[in-house]
Amino acid sequence: MNFKKDNNTTRLENVAIVGNGGRENALAWAIQKNESIKNIYLIPGNGGSNLINKCKTISLNYADTETFIKKLSELDIDLVIIGPEIPLEMGLGNELRKANFLVFGPDKDGARLESSKSWAKSFMKDANIPTANFWKATTIEESIKIINASAKPLVVKADGLASGKGVFIPETKNETIFISKEILEGKFGKAGKTVVLEEKISGPEISVFALCDGERYVLLPTAQDHKRIGEGDKGLNTGGMGAYSPTPLISETELQEICEIIVEPTIKELIKRKINYRGVLYFGLMITTSGPKVIEYNCRFGDPECQTIMPLMDKDFVNLLYKCAMGLLKGDEKLSTDKQCSGCVIASSKGYPLDFQIGYPIQLQNTKTNDIQVFHSGTSTNEFGNLITNGGRVLSVVAQGNSFDEVFDKAYSALNEISFEGIFYRKDIGHQVRNIKKENKI
Ligand code: AMP
Ligand code: GLY
Repeated sequence: MNFKKDNNTTRLENVAIVGNGGRENALAWAIQKNESIKNIYLIPGNGGSNLINKCKTISLNYADTETFIKKLSELDIDLVIIGPEIPLEMGLGNELRKANFLVFGPDKDGARLESSKSWAKSFMKDANIPTANFWKATTIEESIKIINASAKPLVVKADGLASGKGVFIPETKNETIFISKEILEGKFGKAGKTVVLEEKISGPEISVFALCDGERYVLLPTAQDHKRIGEGDKGLNTGGMGAYSPTPLISETELQEICEIIVEPTIKELIKRKINYRGVLYFGLMITTSGPKVIEYNCRFGDPECQTIMPLMDKDFVNLLYKCAMGLLKGDEKLSTDKQCSGCVIASSKGYPLDFQIGYPIQLQNTKTNDIQVFHSGTSTNEFGNLITNGGRVLSVVAQGNSFDEVFDKAYSALNEISFEGIFYRKDIGHQVRNIKKENKI
């Protein structure tokens, strides 16, 4: 292993973070708080990464593993954090571990929890983890048989990674058949070779994150995402338009139950399958009238949940990631924070999640204070070094406070100071936990 020893204690100085979104910038921002950290390299990062203390961007392609590993060795990297699902699915974790790097992020085998919905469903079934009933089909004939045998319309999912666009909730059987056919005929390429047909369940959705070292885990504060583009949770699904943390939708006792019936059985099943999962396990849960059920697993931090939760972490957060990477978590580590609540609103480009334009200049006032952060999501700089839009989700505006009303008042005031052509953001993020004033009611 290549970690440094200093008076017999492990020294963690140089960290590399793979990814280019708000999630990776928020991780970098939380990690730089630790005084032992000297350098954080965001690979490739975005227009905001170099503005974070101790951070530098590096333009490198992880698919060229030889060059990638050579560069990380030159930089004397002590810990690599892999942010997005695609490099995890491709096995970047395996390659880096083979080269003796300490990595936070599962190998290819663990990433299957996210990269194959049918695999994840069978995994849950084997481990008796509560989830919606499901069927798999690889031909349209099989699909039609399943759909016709079901009394109610089913949810249709492409098996593989589809950037959050592979889930459909049709109203009628004909629509269900039509969508299955489109997926199986190649709408999502290889990701749609199999479709998963699922019983439709209902209830509020929450996100639970467990930092895992292969055997033990530490929970992060819970969060609630806002997946729909429109106010009142209407319209198309997006990567997430805002979040808040922690969510009061579940009590401490219910969270304990979630650990017992979902988190721990998941880790046990991973161990049973000889999968040494060192990274974050993200449980997308629906709280139904018959208890919590897993809607999906992800093998990475949620975005924008990560931007929301990171400001609640103290400077020791990076040590937890490091312990996970080493397999040395105790499991009883306490996360301490002096702020109770955090909330995040995403400023997006007009047209997102469908077609949108990029390249518009961004005007940002200096709205940052100790309890307001503006993390860059889809930004870059032009040839003059000016900040421009470069994605559907452009900025993540995050605030903390002692109540959610205070949090969102601060976040929306900060957003008032930000502008770019076509800026769009939901005005009702956190509606579940705010006393939205009458005049603002949507
Ligand atoms: P996923 O990408 O699997 O998280 O699905 C995207 C969204 O589709 C979820 O956040 C849910 O709102 C919805 N969804 C997924 N599966 C189901 C299901 N079985 N029943 C009802 N809604 C679902
Ligand atoms: N916020 C949902 C996700 O990251 O998948």
